Amino acid sequence: MRMTKNILILSLLLLFLAKNNASKFKFTNVGCESFNQSLVVINTCRLKAINRDKTVINIELSLKEMVNRVMINGQMFKRENGYKPWLYNITTEGCQFYRRANDPVIKLIFNLFKSYSSLNHTCPYSPGTMRLWGFYLLPQSVPVPLPSGDYLVAVKWSIHNFLQLSTNVSFSFQEDFLN
Ligand SMILES: *[C@@H]1O[C@H](CO)[C@@H](O)[C@H](O)[C@H]1NC(C)=O
Ligand SMILES: *[C@@H]1O[C@H](CO)[C@@H](O)[C@H](O)[C@H]1NC(C)=O
Ligand SMILES: *[C@@H]1O[C@H](CO)[C@@H](O)[C@H](O)[C@H]1NC(C)=O
Ligand SMILES: *[C@@H]1O[C@H](CO)[C@@H](O)[C@H](O)[C@H]1NC(C)=O
Repeated sequence: MRMTKNILILSLLLLFLAKNNASKFKFTNVGCESFNQSLVVINTCRLKAINRDKTVINIELSLKEMVNRVMINGQMFKRENGYKPWLYNITTEGCQFYRRANDPVIKLIFNLFKSYSSLNHTCPYSPGTMRLWGFYLLPQSVPVPLPSGDYLVAVKWSIHNFLQLSTNVSFSFQEDFLN
């Protein structure tokens, strides 16, 4: 009896802690645009709500030509009367990406995506479909410290020296309020 009561109290305490420790992360929008239909065609680009707390990203592209040079620019924005550039603006050569998997930042990003994406190997990328499917993030796997707010990550893909593709993801993040 006493044991049961202790377990009950412990469970309630754990539940309380879990609830209060929970930061919230949620994808709110996704957008894709191809600027060259003879190179990239967008088949799917949307969010899918799995349940109240989980929304995943599904993107499928058709690549029409062999690709062996990709420059990726990722710019982060935070919403404050419209989206304002925020802290991170990173440009990297996509084909070198996986070759530099020892770089801690690259490794971190790679680990977030690798099991959800067919874009998980080095160049060249052959014509065919490329997918990022069922992708989601847990608040605790957000790789950088973030203040609460609404964010946009805008990624520009330059293939063979021209801007060919734009993919945007927006999300809201609420910090654990005990911190
Ligand atoms: C992504 O966001 C940028 C910056 O706000 C915007 O210029 C661009 O048109 C957006 N692209 C898509 C596909 O929504
Ligand atoms: C569009 O893609 C085709 C096929 O790869 C390429 O030949 C053409 O140069 C591209 N156009 C631009 C502006 O990059
Ligand atoms: C982000 O970096 C790119 C490439 O270096 C540059 O063209 C762009 O203007 C930068 N964006 C901002 C908001 O500084
Ligand atoms: C790359 O993606 C393919 C297809 O989604 C998957 O079978 C493979 O295990 C992935 N490789 C890595 C290193 O994650």
